[in-house]
Amino acid sequence: MEVERVQAIATLSKALDTIPDAFIRSEKEQPALTTFSGPVPEIPTIDFSEQDEQQLIQKIANASIHWGLFQIVNHGIPVEVIKKLQTAGREFFELPLEEKEVYAKPADSETIEGYGTKLQKEMEGKKTWVDYLFHNVWPPSRINYKFWPKNPPYYREANEEYVTYLREVVDKLFKYLSLGLGVEANTIKEAMGGDELEYLLKINYYPPCPRPDLTLGVAPHTDMSSITVLVPNEIPGLQVFKDDHWYNAKYIPNALIIHIGDQIQILSNGKYKSVFHRTTVNKDKTRMSWPVFCSPPREMVVGPLPQLVTEENPAKFKSKKYKDYEYCKLNKIPQ
Ligand code: SIN
Ligand code: FE2
Repeated sequence: MEVERVQAIATLSKALDTIPDAFIRSEKEQPALTTFSGPVPEIPTIDFSEQDEQQLIQKIANASIHWGLFQIVNHGIPVEVIKKLQTAGREFFELPLEEKEVYAKPADSETIEGYGTKLQKEMEGKKTWVDYLFHNVWPPSRINYKFWPKNPPYYREANEEYVTYLREVVDKLFKYLSLGLGVEANTIKEAMGGDELEYLLKINYYPPCPRPDLTLGVAPHTDMSSITVLVPNEIPGLQVFKDDHWYNAKYIPNALIIHIGDQIQILSNGKYKSVFHRTTVNKDKTRMSWPVFCSPPREMVVGPLPQLVTEENPAKFKSKKYKDYEYCKLNKIPQ
């Protein structure tokens, strides 16, 4: 079946100065009607080079308890490495549609890897203003290079360099998040599969949209990963739900955006929050983002850490294999 890409719809919509009905969200969801416009509380920004480790742990724990999302600066990934990842991804998406279709997710495949795939079934049967590419980037045993663009030629190198640095950041985050829960430093990493932790890259490509007031790039959701580390381009669009409001996350050059996902919420028995978020799109500019979802291996059982479960604080979540969690979430079956 021929799938129509949003990139093609966007070109037509620009000429018509309108968007197809399928993209118009209900009034409960339209960003123009639901984005908080008062004074916005600051989403935490954390300096990862902070020398006082106790301070750093405290800040990361607080951000994870109250927001489930924070930005980190001075994270140790060189600016050039991030720029190269972004340029490679942008050059791929700027290729003619036919060239990208070579990487389309096969309709019958079991993995979500590939170009233009749709991960979540939409509640209201509405579409979102985005095309994407998914492929695993780590561990090597999970990589299918057929889903990695050959063009631009440096695409593979750019992704490999980024992931080498990214793994160090993720290891540190798991350590600080563990210490913030008062458990041993290696607890979260081990509970998430140790060196088998899987890294899945998604590139979101949100073309310019004549009616950004009516549509969404990504519908509201929490990530089912343990954590997600995201590089945005300079066009803002990420919104976070807190205290009944949708707040804009500001763009901070060279920052990484960290999302606490469902698996860390479960592991921490609800202490750390899986952040509910969505994205908006831009009238004139293309927004792009590069989230990497870090998830346990499919057979790994994830549940609240026994150290955190007591008679006064009983388990708030079931323990189950990650693959079963994923199946229920994607098919909207209550967990
Ligand atoms: C997402 O949550 O999948 C996308 C977030 C973003 O583009 O900032
Ligand atoms: Fe997300």
